[in-house]
Amino acid sequence: MALPDGFLYELKERSDISDIVSGYVNLKRRGRNLVGLCPFHSEKTPSFNLYPENGSFYCFGCGAGGDVITFIMKIENLDYIEAVKFLAQRAGMDMPENSYDDGVGKLRMRIFEANREAARFYNKKLYEPEGREGLEYFYRRGLTDNIIRRFGLGYSPKSRYALCDHLKALGFSSAELVAANLAFMSSDGRRAVDRFADRVMFPIIDLRGNVIAFGGRILTDQKPKYLNTSDTPAFKKSANLFSLNNAKNTGERTLILCEGYMDVIALNKAGFKNAVATLGTALTPEQAVLMKRYADEVVICYDADEAGQKATARAITLLRNAGLVIRVLSIPEGKDPDEFIRNKGDKGAAAFKNVLDNSGNDVEYRLQNLKTKYDTNNPEQKAGYMTEALRIVSSLDSAVEQDIYVSKLAGELNIDKASISADLQKLRRKKENEYRKRDFTRISTELSGRDDKVNTEKAKHTRAAKAEEMLIAFLVYNNDMEPQVSARITPQDFVTKFNAQLYAYVVERIHEGVSPQTTFTRDFTSDEVSKFYAILHSYNSQTATKQAMNEYIDVILEEKHKLTPEKISEMSPEEIMASLKKKKSKE
Ligand code: GTP
Ligand code: MN
Repeated sequence: MALPDGFLYELKERSDISDIVSGYVNLKRRGRNLVGLCPFHSEKTPSFNLYPENGSFYCFGCGAGGDVITFIMKIENLDYIEAVKFLAQRAGMDMPENSYDDGVGKLRMRIFEANREAARFYNKKLYEPEGREGLEYFYRRGLTDNIIRRFGLGYSPKSRYALCDHLKALGFSSAELVAANLAFMSSDGRRAVDRFADRVMFPIIDLRGNVIAFGGRILTDQKPKYLNTSDTPAFKKSANLFSLNNAKNTGERTLILCEGYMDVIALNKAGFKNAVATLGTALTPEQAVLMKRYADEVVICYDADEAGQKATARAITLLRNAGLVIRVLSIPEGKDPDEFIRNKGDKGAAAFKNVLDNSGNDVEYRLQNLKTKYDTNNPEQKAGYMTEALRIVSSLDSAVEQDIYVSKLAGELNIDKASISADLQKLRRKKENEYRKRDFTRISTELSGRDDKVNTEKAKHTRAAKAEEMLIAFLVYNNDMEPQVSARITPQDFVTKFNAQLYAYVVERIHEGVSPQTTFTRDFTSDEVSKFYAILHSYNSQTATKQAMNEYIDVILEEKHKLTPEKISEMSPEEIMASLKKKKSKE
């Protein structure tokens, strides 16, 4: 059942978008709007705009946009109904009857149930003869039964049917097992086959305690070493972290970010329960924002190898953008925290604590890292080091912090501080210019419609599409002009199909006395919602006059009646003649 208009209207009235978004994004006022770093993509200058006046947001960097419901869907990784529930709960409103039994929500519940049963099954197998190799593997890596229980670890049997048979006996269908990514269909399509076989299993648990996915490690040197659940209706890899369910309860506002499952588990065993890891992928902006909700500070604790160092650089940028204080921990011996702790035996915990306490902030880390690449006794290399170092320092927001590092560099390299400051100024100006150029390129791409995924006809009919969009925005903001607009133009006159559909929707909503923005998220996909808000945000109340409105209509009608080769090939000779005549009489 679709949610009633009135309910959505009230929900949006009671859910102040500025209040809600500022719980996730650090917003600054700019005129009537608020701006901040976009939580949906990685960026250094704010392109995320919030418009309290009409309850919407739009990011000029990545094109994400929508209303408060869209925001919650994206940031909390919920589907539409769940996001509405989330907001209703916050606003103290009851959900309308019958709106619970939506298809996706039901499937998601079934996946959680299947996963929970699978986790139980894998754990049980670990202690049966079949799972002996798995258990021995864990013991060999220093795990105890206690820690195995705490993380719910398990073993998936060699047979490709063990889990499927078990879950089917419990009433799960093949389709559900495939949707959960616990199984895939055999190539003849007749039978569901276990996805994980002969692996030790790490369940991934969300903040509400649901088993949402698994990571499975092979016991041999075969590849892939780790196999993870792909995205499902109940799991988004890029928006979850391993063991955040444990880490969030430590009462500290610091998280330790590691590369792997085994690192997190080794740290837990040593008493560091605030460790988390990504799920077999590089850190994402969503994960950084998620961490910010439970921490003020993150200690990056990646492997000491080259890949780990690269990943560290990337993580620094993302975490910094999320507003987190960062420290970087370098593992002195061994490859990763797991090995380090294990090699130290009884003293593992104390040794790690020592390294943790001595870890420096990220700028120090980057400068140190950089310095190892240059011989600062050589004047040329010294200058090279200086240029790179200033680039790092210029990424700091705070002028005071920048000054601290300028002084440090001056002392270290024996260079006059004033001249370093001057160089830093120059660099800052150059960067600003680069940003401006980037904004310009972005805007011109958008205008051309080249990257428009939703309105794929826009690139071919730029002029018409642009006028259509302006007209739609005009109508959304000037509902009272609808009769005048409708008297001149109908959806059939639109050149691009998507805009025609959008326009028809807007007109229909106005006829029904409901603002299109109240229900748009209910009735369109999230890409379409973003597109709709992009269109609305190109609206300018100063230039959108009644005269402009008539000009938009003129352009659309004119473009509609233009003869293109495609059109001519579809027309009968009579139609072509008629069309030419009409054109003549207009000129
Ligand atoms: P161990 O060898 O068991 O100690 O694992 P590790 O955690 O030290 O592994 P490594 O440093 O090689 O990788 C760190 C993390 O990257 C793992 O925990 C996985 O999440 C991920 N990873 C490693 N290998 C693979 C792979 O083959 N596929 C995927 N998807 N992820 C992997
Ligand atoms: Mn390891």
